Amino acid sequence: MMKKRFISTIAIAGAAAMALTACSSDPEPGASGSAAGGGGGDGEVITVGFAQTGSESGWRSANTDSMKEAFSAENGFDLIFNAADNDTAAQITAVRSFINQGVDAIVIAPIVEDGWDDVLTEAKNAGIPVILEDRTVSSPEDLYAAWVGLDFEKEGTMAGEWAAAEFGDTETKMVVLEGTTGSAPANDRATGFDAAIEGTMIEKIDSQTGDFTRDGGKSVMEGFLQNYGVDGIDLVYAHNDDMALGAIEAIEAAGAVPGEDIKIISIDAVHDGMQALVDGKINYIVECNPLLGELAAGLVKDVLAGNDVERTVYVEDQAFDQAAAEAALPDRKY
Ligand code: AHR
Repeated sequence: MMKKRFISTIAIAGAAAMALTACSSDPEPGASGSAAGGGGGDGEVITVGFAQTGSESGWRSANTDSMKEAFSAENGFDLIFNAADNDTAAQITAVRSFINQGVDAIVIAPIVEDGWDDVLTEAKNAGIPVILEDRTVSSPEDLYAAWVGLDFEKEGTMAGEWAAAEFGDTETKMVVLEGTTGSAPANDRATGFDAAIEGTMIEKIDSQTGDFTRDGGKSVMEGFLQNYGVDGIDLVYAHNDDMALGAIEAIEAAGAVPGEDIKIISIDAVHDGMQALVDGKINYIVECNPLLGELAAGLVKDVLAGNDVERTVYVEDQAFDQAAAEAALPDRKY
């Protein structure tokens, strides 16, 4: 079984190298003096191609900002950035172009899990290491050097456990706003949640993709409301905050009160989602931390320096009810 290394939110928010050392005495990405800060080590600029999914959500904007900040010229990088607008073929084309340009390393936030074997093999044959951030792929592990991201299944489990505790004893009709079909977070958040509510009185009456966007969440929720009516839906499980925010608009437009008439659980804990939780329009949020830039940059430097790295680096998430959101919101970084 794959070894899991969890890194806390505090470790990410603070000075990376110091906080990482505090987490464990084992070597950590960035702990060998090659954390994102501090230049390119031997003074050579490191050219990195970063294939981002797109700009579908508030989470994604925060993740892009974190990556651009860490892969800065000041930190010794020349970053070639590509956002694929959620188009898998375009993302693979971007990775091929990085290979053709002869970059030193490639970082990918893969839109979907499947379909990566060929281009990852091409990168390997070209001697260009690939680091995955955020989402995972189904390809063999020897095709990439390391991955840093979140435990999406655990996020789903945390959301489902809360739902089971709150609504499990009462007949509850639930609809699901799924993330992008075939993506690791959509797959794993469904698996974790479904297992956690098994045997409860929560019934999933419908489940459709809203593609992780606010507009997608809104239009899918409008369809659910048309099909089942306000009184036919008790609970929404949204795979991210943006879709929950879209659902809120649809519920309000239908004359109902989000968070009261229809309860909402979502994942991400970005600023707008947390504000909706404080305002009582969302009832519970599980965090998905987007601040992965420093860890990804540290991994790139370590891999290029030939240092041993943890192949799988999980960043730990927390969860928020209304009171916790109110306390945390003023200090949130995204
Ligand atoms: O892969 C992480 C997911 O992608 C976030 O939950 C979502 O908001 C984003 O678009």
